[in-house]
Amino acid sequence: MNTPITDAPSYALLNRQLEALLDTRDWLTNSAQLCAFMFQQVPALNWAGLYLQREPALLSLGPFQGKPACHPIPFSKGVCGAAASQQQTQRVDDVNALATHIACDADSRAELVVPIVQNGVLWGVLDLDSPEQGRFSDEDQAGVEALVATFIAATDLPDFLR
Ligand code: SME
Repeated sequence: MNTPITDAPSYALLNRQLEALLDTRDWLTNSAQLCAFMFQQVPALNWAGLYLQREPALLSLGPFQGKPACHPIPFSKGVCGAAASQQQTQRVDDVNALATHIACDADSRAELVVPIVQNGVLWGVLDLDSPEQGRFSDEDQAGVEALVATFIAATDLPDFLR
């Protein structure tokens, strides 16, 4: 495991800030706020966004910050597909060493993908990309998972999943 060059931010503080930011229960507004917040507050990212399960076993590009990205992604493909199908966080230190990775931007080196599950229903995933190899530590993973839990608790199920 590489030692990340970039230190983790204070995720406890970010969690309180995110709670204050999410002042509606609307899924689209809160999703857009979550992506913008992550992109601004988590250092050394080049992309932050949601992929949503708008139809079974397929991820559609949702709100994001960064360059235009790949769409759609089946559950059988990529790091995002693995996170969705296994409902488990995927953390990759060097995407170039992973054959299954889908390259949307050649600058991306590390990736953290957290499934978004509400009462057993999979919304999709939160995908964070960084140009820094080994960017995401255990602390980053736990911190981002906690932010996703805050987002889920603050947001109603999207209309397309009801
Ligand atoms: N790299 C992802 C695809 C999404 S982009 O990084 C925004 C993957 O392998 O699933």
